[in-house]
Amino acid sequence: MVDIDPWSSDVSTDYDRIIQKFGLDSVSLSDIPNPSLHHRRDIIFAHRDLGNILQAHSQGDPFGVMTGLMPSGQMHLGHKMVIDQVRWFQEQGADVTIAVADLEANATRGFSLSECRKVAMEEYIANYVAMGLDPARTNIYFQSMRPIVQRMGFTLGKRTNLSEFEAIYGFQGDTNLAHVQAPLVQAGDILHPQLDEYGGLRPIVVPVGVDQDPHLRLCRGLAGKTNWFNVNDRKNGGIRITVSVMDENQNIVAGDKATTHSVFTKIVDVLKALGYGDIVADANHGIVDLPAATPKDRYPIRMSLLALERSMGGSGLLQPSSTYHRFAVGMTGGKMSSSMPETTIFLTEDLKVMEKKFKRSFSGGQSTVEEHRRIGGNPDVDVAFQYLKFFFEEDDVVLEEIRKGYVSGDILSGELKMMTVEKAAAWLTDLAEMRDQNAHLVAEFLADDSR
Ligand code: TRP
Repeated sequence: MVDIDPWSSDVSTDYDRIIQKFGLDSVSLSDIPNPSLHHRRDIIFAHRDLGNILQAHSQGDPFGVMTGLMPSGQMHLGHKMVIDQVRWFQEQGADVTIAVADLEANATRGFSLSECRKVAMEEYIANYVAMGLDPARTNIYFQSMRPIVQRMGFTLGKRTNLSEFEAIYGFQGDTNLAHVQAPLVQAGDILHPQLDEYGGLRPIVVPVGVDQDPHLRLCRGLAGKTNWFNVNDRKNGGIRITVSVMDENQNIVAGDKATTHSVFTKIVDVLKALGYGDIVADANHGIVDLPAATPKDRYPIRMSLLALERSMGGSGLLQPSSTYHRFAVGMTGGKMSSSMPETTIFLTEDLKVMEKKFKRSFSGGQSTVEEHRRIGGNPDVDVAFQYLKFFFEEDDVVLEEIRKGYVSGDILSGELKMMTVEKAAAWLTDLAEMRDQNAHLVAEFLADDSR
């Protein structure tokens, strides 16, 4: 058994253990410019290399956000959470790339490509448009129609093997090979925006739930293994750069002594151009040290060396950044899953049905009014409260008032549910209106290769 299976609806919510086990970094709110509701409420709780994105942002350098969808069902609140994050990154200046994972849905859910297209257009993209993504800076494509992502999946496959797939995904002898290819194509999805034809070298962030982290681990590993130049922290401070010699570059970076030396000269020139004075190059041992460099220098150094790699014929791929959000509790108190409609609200949900779902939803209140007034409710497990927190109440002050009122017993469970129903109804109504109003924009969101 692997710890996280991205295709299972069972997800671990032991977030601290996940951070520990998979080496995620915690998000610190003070580092985030214009923090969103998800940041302020600790819903986005961890990341990998978000510093790259923040540094690019603060320097006014380009950066992108990437996500993908399997067009295999109805969009629900869990999807809204991802799109809200994508829109937030877009508002901070990111360009947006979205993969319609029709190949993956075909491989893992048995959907035909034409079914995928229909669902993607009518269900997913229509809602993206309604949720306010900017068509001018949003690029949506179909995996099956963008050969480069498949080609990258194929060539990156060289950097992994079946044992790694077994370890990461729990694949076994009977796993079908389309299912094996899906994560490789997804690595193509995540890495291809850095190619010159798709915007060029820049950090790309992928906001996900922890269930998708296996894909990011794989993808970061694949990208890292293609890199010609490694940038690492030195044991005693500073940064060390080493050269990876591999099939693709052995004649360019190794070969004879003169070649090796010219490569080191190039590295040193790149570092000088970045302003470093204290550079210790040891071509014989294949090492360049920057004793005075700090961790913050890693990003600009890496970017410059990736550019150097590209100028020498390499692919120069930066490992993707990622952020991780907590999952909202399902409406019945367990997990939220599209295959169990009673556990979530669909973005096209009928208002009456939505209301019914909240009325039946798991409550943190007491069983009688008297008891509730005396003991108060528990907002941490109360679906109505959690949905205000995760989705519907933008205002932190109002949310806190509601929380206090519920804890003290002033607000009854039924009252809290009605507050949430009202907020949800307003949101769903607004979204439906936006879908109608902006239906003509759906085609504009599609990239040229996917129209
Ligand atoms: N695997 C994702 C899912 O199950 C879909 C996906 C495909 C994706 N390509 C991606 C997600 C790239 C993020 C980035 O929904």
